[in-house]
Amino acid sequence: MTKPTLDGNEGEHSGAARLPEPLRRRILLWLPALVFGSAGASLLAAAYRLLRPRAGEAAAGGWVEVGNVAQLSGAEPLRREVFFEQQSGWSASTRAQTVFVLPGAGGRVLSASCPHEGCDVEWSAERREFQCPCHDSRFGPDGARLGGPAEHGLARLHSRTNGGALEILLAPSGEDQQAGRVPG
Ligand code: FES
Repeated sequence: MTKPTLDGNEGEHSGAARLPEPLRRRILLWLPALVFGSAGASLLAAAYRLLRPRAGEAAAGGWVEVGNVAQLSGAEPLRREVFFEQQSGWSASTRAQTVFVLPGAGGRVLSASCPHEGCDVEWSAERREFQCPCHDSRFGPDGARLGGPAEHGLARLHSRTNGGALEILLAPSGEDQQAGRVPG
């Protein structure tokens, strides 16, 4: 008659007892590491969800210089890029914003962002209109809508002169701080 044993080859065995000894040792060694490791990862993930900063919360905004008023002259809209620091969570980045200064309209500043889907418009001196390269919206020299899928004219930005410099106001998110839309 066969007697049940835990370590022999005969008789009835449990599943764990059938594992080779080196493998059993390795499992016993790694099991606590796996348990503590996954618990630690869960804790870290929860801490990150709790402590991470939300994007845009600490974004910088305010007045940004477009250029020297004395140099912003002529009959044509002047394309300018303004650069500003944007804080997003823990990281800061430099972003660019394209605008058009209208020297013939008292230094009025228009956003270059097309109101349809946000592509930057370009000034065509030949046709005397702003044209959007994406879906062919067109705007007059004052930013008024002439045609195409855009439903409004270009956005007019808050602007001021400060110590000889023309400045525009950017919202805390870094987006245009619009003074209004040019009708059309
Ligand atoms: S983004 Fe300008 S027409 Fe569509």
